[in-house]
Amino acid sequence: MKDGMKVVLVVAVGENGVIGRDGQLPWRLKSDLRHFRALTLDKPVVMGRKTFESIGKALDRRTNIVITRDPKFAAEGVDAAASLDAALDLARKDCVRRGTDEIMVIGGGGVFADCMPFADRLEITHVHASPAGDVYFPSIDPAAWRAVKHEERAAGPGDDASFSVVTYLRR
Ligand SMILES: NC(=O)c1ccc[n+]([C@@H]2O[C@H](COP(=O)([O-])OP(=O)(O)OC[C@H]3O[C@@H](n4cnc5c(N)ncnc54)[C@H](OP(=O)(O)O)[C@@H]3O)[C@@H](O)[C@H]2O)c1
Repeated sequence: MKDGMKVVLVVAVGENGVIGRDGQLPWRLKSDLRHFRALTLDKPVVMGRKTFESIGKALDRRTNIVITRDPKFAAEGVDAAASLDAALDLARKDCVRRGTDEIMVIGGGGVFADCMPFADRLEITHVHASPAGDVYFPSIDPAAWRAVKHEERAAGPGDDASFSVVTYLRR
C-alpha cells in the first residue's frame, strides 16, 4: 500500500483450493490455529461477516473489523465496516494506534479475492488434503509471487492432515 501499511492475507488452503465448507473450516488443524494466532496477535484483523460468524466471537488481543452490508450488524468487541475500503481505513488507523504496519486479512473467499491484487504478503498454510468445500482461495500466480519461507509440519495431535507453512512476497 502507498502509505507504508502492509496488507497480509492469512489462510489455510487445501490442495484443491478449498478453504471452507458449510460456513466452517473443512478440517480440524489445532496446530495451524496456534500458528494463525501467533501471526495475527496484536494486529487488526479484517474479515467478512460469514467468517466472523464461523469464528463465533471476537478474536482476543486483535482489533476485529467485520465487513458487512447490514447496517444493523453489531457484535461485542467488533468494529463493523460497510465496505472493504472502509475496513482498510479502520485497520490503518488501528495500525497507527498500535504501532504496527500490518493489516491481516483473514477471509473469506470474496474478501481474499478482492485483496489479492494489492496484497503485500501471503501467509499460506498449504493443507495436504483435498476436502469437499464451497469456498475457495484464488490461485497463487507463480509469476507474481515467490515463496521466501517454507516449513513442513507433520500432523500433530488434533490435526487432520500434515501441512506446510509458506510465506510469499511479490516478485
Ligand atoms: N481456511 C481458512 O483459512 C479460512 C479463512 C476464512 C474463512 N474460511 C471459511 O470461509 C467461509 C466463509 O467465507 P465466505 O467467503 O463464505 O464469506 P465471508 O467473506 O467471510 O463473508 C461474506 C460476507 O461479508 C460481507 N462482505 C464481503 N465483502 C463485502 C464488501 N465488499 N462490502 C460489504 N460487505 C462485504 C457480506 O456480509 P453481509 O452478508 O452481512 O452483508 C458477505 O455476505 C467459512 O466456511 C469459513 O470457515 C476459511
